Amino acid sequence: MNIFTDIENEHRLFEKAAGSMVAIAKMLTEADTLEYKQDLKALCNFFISFMVKFHTQKEEAVIFTALEKLNLPRDKGPLYYYALEHTEHLTFAEEILTLLEKPDLNDEDKKSIYDKSVNYCGNLWEHIDKEDSVFLTEVTERIRGMALIEMNNAYEKFIEEFKFTDLNADKNIRIAEDLIKKYDPVLKIPEHIRGDGCMSCRHFGSGCNGIEHEWWSEHEWEDFFERNNRD
Ligand SMILES: [Fe+2]
Ligand SMILES: [Fe+2]
Repeated sequence: MNIFTDIENEHRLFEKAAGSMVAIAKMLTEADTLEYKQDLKALCNFFISFMVKFHTQKEEAVIFTALEKLNLPRDKGPLYYYALEHTEHLTFAEEILTLLEKPDLNDEDKKSIYDKSVNYCGNLWEHIDKEDSVFLTEVTERIRGMALIEMNNAYEKFIEEFKFTDLNADKNIRIAEDLIKKYDPVLKIPEHIRGDGCMSCRHFGSGCNGIEHEWWSEHEWEDFFERNNRD
């Protein structure tokens, strides 16, 4: 069991599921069928129950806690904005679900569901790109030795406890995998350009100054300049 590998694998599933969400929402704008509505609802519920309540909790309860012990702040910088986006992932999925509950969807509702799905997908891809390229890279460097042993123990305990509270976790993954097979995920959305690093983050420069300025110690900066001068 390795929390970093598990998180990366789950990201691969989420980015595809978000792409399928856009594909279904697009089909729903063209034909208002019960099947599309049910499938879109199932994906929203997957994001809420599996991503927000399980995956995100791994990040916050296990990794953020380990980083806090290394004196990295949770009330500002990357951890604050990751947590803020986690809350948005719940709110936005609930908004789409609320619209899908309407007995008759008019054109405006269908457009709104589509726009919200595109937005959801774009925001999630951005979140995943940042976590893969910035968060996980920095965290693997920082959590070492005793801190790593402690975090791994916390992760084992977290998984054990989760098993007792949500027995549907495996079922949720299978539902999402089936829907990804049924609806080819979109791989691009015109409104969103994928990219690595802090530069692609919408909070960069307006709340967060980037990982180096938020997290790096004096020693890390010295090391950086030394390496650059050498090169
Ligand atoms: Fe996250
Ligand atoms: Fe994540």
